[in-house]
Amino acid sequence: FVRRPLIAGNWKMNMDHVQGITLLQKLEWTLDDAKHDFKRVEVAVFPPFTDLRGVQTLVAGDDLDVVYGAQDLSPFDEGAYTGDISGQFLSRLGCSYVLVGHSERRSIHGESNEVVASKLAAALKHSLTPILCVGEGLEVRQSGEHVAFTVQQLRESLEGYPASAAEKLVVAYEPVWAIGTGEVAGPEDAQEMASALRAELVELFGEAAGESVRVLYGGSVKAANAAALMQEKDVDGLLVGGASLDAGEFANIVRFEK
Ligand code: G3H
Repeated sequence: FVRRPLIAGNWKMNMDHVQGITLLQKLEWTLDDAKHDFKRVEVAVFPPFTDLRGVQTLVAGDDLDVVYGAQDLSPFDEGAYTGDISGQFLSRLGCSYVLVGHSERRSIHGESNEVVASKLAAALKHSLTPILCVGEGLEVRQSGEHVAFTVQQLRESLEGYPASAAEKLVVAYEPVWAIGTGEVAGPEDAQEMASALRAELVELFGEAAGESVRVLYGGSVKAANAAALMQEKDVDGLLVGGASLDAGEFANIVRFEK
């Protein structure tokens, strides 16, 4: 089954609008110089909301190949939801993707699987491709229950998600204990979970749709470990945090085969 690899850079709450534009320009130049084939390996960045308009202008004006998305969205379209941003706004800003249920949203903002499911529905409604994030914390990993825990998180987060939209879905496995800690899950750990998640997707959506979903790995990815992770059969891409803030390092991750 051919799944186009996706390398995604989550800037988190870093990069103001000037820094963001500079970073994106540098990234595109570096990849252009390296003659990166964007049709073969897709590249997406996830700036803070306040950078999206600048990113949109740059991408449209300079005809960039990098696509972009937001780090979160509201389950609602509009109304009295102070501080929230709706999927409708994001699609009007040209976003292709949106992260849903990132572990930092789940832990800092208390997002339950139910909230995550409602955000997935909002993403679909506004034609955004959701990247659903799942993953276990350290305690669960140490208890040995990590596969069961993460598969259940996936199943509950996908409650009500239509099988007809399965091909649009991207799933990111992010072991919380490996995020920003320098601890990387080994390629075999990433593969173990990616294949368990895929089996669940096949069960939920059927063979063809389940096999078409791209499963990414995230957690302390760097240029030095990208190739080994990408070699695993069920790992179709990477969700990169810290290392995506350096254009050169991120470009080297994108060019993991080189
Ligand atoms: O969204 C990205 C992940 O949280 C990974 O972050 O690469 O800084 O560990 P990190």
